[in-house]
Amino acid sequence: MDELVRREIAGGGLVVFDHPLIRHKLTLLRGASLGHRGFRALLAEIAGLMVYEVTREFPTDEVEIETPMERMTGVRLRGHITVVPVLRAGLGMAEGILSVMPEARVGHLGLARDERTLEPVAYLNKLPATMGDAPVVLVDPMLATGGSAIAAIEMLRGEGASDVRLICLVASPEGVARLREACPDVTIYAAAVDRCLNEQGFILPGLGDAGDRMYGTTEPA
Ligand code: PRP
Repeated sequence: MDELVRREIAGGGLVVFDHPLIRHKLTLLRGASLGHRGFRALLAEIAGLMVYEVTREFPTDEVEIETPMERMTGVRLRGHITVVPVLRAGLGMAEGILSVMPEARVGHLGLARDERTLEPVAYLNKLPATMGDAPVVLVDPMLATGGSAIAAIEMLRGEGASDVRLICLVASPEGVARLREACPDVTIYAAAVDRCLNEQGFILPGLGDAGDRMYGTTEPA
């Protein structure tokens, strides 16, 4: 494992999931023969599993309730949690997260990576007005060069978000290094950190272009 990745895991800035079910599903997702219907379903399932760990440290408040039997003190999540998918591919993961946390608000960020420069170009910013210090879960299956995640975090900060966590499926060591350097307070949750980026900015071994695979836009018409 990359030395930097090892260091970030030890320091708590990077959480890599070693759960057998997540690793099993991610392996199925990587397979080139999986069609867009199966890809979408698996993407949502994995995100739904990852969200348990991501929300582990979320702040809670005690709340008094009446059960049918008696009064008791329960617990509820504090503040309005916002899930922010980066379009397009983040949408598939957000769906899985919302199946577990249906009360979360959803913000949308549209970012497309310029194929030549690999720099992200923003085309949509629809965020809740009052994210404040409540948790914001940024969702994008791929952390490749890290440019899109950094741009997304800057957009979130611009709207006042202070507690941002990133969930991705597959990260590159290069993307982890760049993001941790630019945004040291943002914890990265990844199902896997792969070997490296190729010259076109794709993660190896990776899973291809998640947006295209999810929506079937690579297939012949
Ligand atoms: C992919 C991916 C990330 C981004 C990662 O999106 O879903 O958003 O690239 O690359 P980076 O870390 O180098 O910035 P893409 O631009 O292909 O858009 P799409 O989801 O609409 O296909």
